[in-house]
Amino acid sequence: MKVGLEEISPTIGSKEIVAWLPTILGLGATHTVAIPELAYPTYAVGAQMARAKFVTYNSAEEIPADTSLVWVNSPSNPTGEVKTVAHLTAVVARAREIGAVVVSDECYIELGWDVTPVSILHPDVIGTSNESVLAVHSLSKRSNLAGYRSGAVLGDKRLIADILALRKHAGMLLPSPIQVATVAALDDPAHVASQRDVYHNRRTVLKAAVLDSGMKIQHSQAGLYLWVSAGKPCLETVALLAGVGILCAPGDFYGPAGTSHVRMALTATDERIAQVASRLASLPA
Ligand SMILES: Cc1ncc(COP(=O)(O)O)c(C=O)c1O
Repeated sequence: MKVGLEEISPTIGSKEIVAWLPTILGLGATHTVAIPELAYPTYAVGAQMARAKFVTYNSAEEIPADTSLVWVNSPSNPTGEVKTVAHLTAVVARAREIGAVVVSDECYIELGWDVTPVSILHPDVIGTSNESVLAVHSLSKRSNLAGYRSGAVLGDKRLIADILALRKHAGMLLPSPIQVATVAALDDPAHVASQRDVYHNRRTVLKAAVLDSGMKIQHSQAGLYLWVSAGKPCLETVALLAGVGILCAPGDFYGPAGTSHVRMALTATDERIAQVASRLASLPA
C-alpha cells in the first residue's frame, strides 16, 4: 500500500491522536462517536474530551445513523481479535452511508499470530478510494519504541490536510530527532522481525500455561494480549491470580462485556513470563 506525503501526518505516539482526533475534527456536544463494545479506554476519553456522546457497537448495522466518527481497533486491545475484511468493509460502507469518518487503530497490525491482520486502507476493504477513512499506526509495539512517542495517522488527504493544519498551530509536532529515528526504524524490517519473535515466544509459553491451568482463551489471534476466562467474574480471577503473584487486568475495565475475562499481557520480560507459567501450574485444580 503506497501512501502519498499528503496522506499522512506524524503523531506523538498513537494514544495522543486517539484522544484528540474527535476534537481535531471539530466534534462537540451534538456529535456521536461509535467505539467497539470492548475497547481501549482512550476512544471514550477522546469523545469525552470533545464533549461528544459515545456509543458502543459490535457490528456495522449497530452504528447509529447520527454517528460522526467510528473507531475500529484491529488487532484489538484487549481481546486480540482481528477484524475480517468483511467486517471492515461493512463498517466503511456504513460510515460512508451515514457520512461519518471511520478510523482504524492499527497499532498492533504487525503482530498477527494465527491470522494476518488486514489494514482498513487495503484495497480489498476500501476499493480505490480512501475517502473518509483513516488508519492510525505506531512504532511503540512493532519496534518496542513506546518511549519515542512516534505514530502516524494516514488516509483521506482532505482529512489529513485539516488534521495537519490544526496540529501545526496547536504545536502537536513530532520533534525532528524522533522523525529521523522513525525513518530509520521504518527502513529496518529486521528489528521488527526479531521483536515479533520475542513476543511470539512469550505467547507460546503463556498460552500453553493458561490452557494447561484449565482456563479458556478467546480471540487472541494477534497483538500483545491473551483474553482469558476462568469461567467466573473477572475480579475473582484477578484475585485468584494475584494470590499466586500474577498481575492481570480485569476485563470489565474495557467495557461491561468483559466481566468474565481478564487480559494477560506479553509485555513482561521472558523471565517473568516463565515465572507466570510456573505459578499458573501451581494453581489448585
Ligand atoms: C489500542 C491501542 N491504541 C493506542 C495505544 C497507544 O500506544 P502509543 O501511544 O504508545 O502508540 C495503545 C497502547 O497500549 C493501544 O493498546
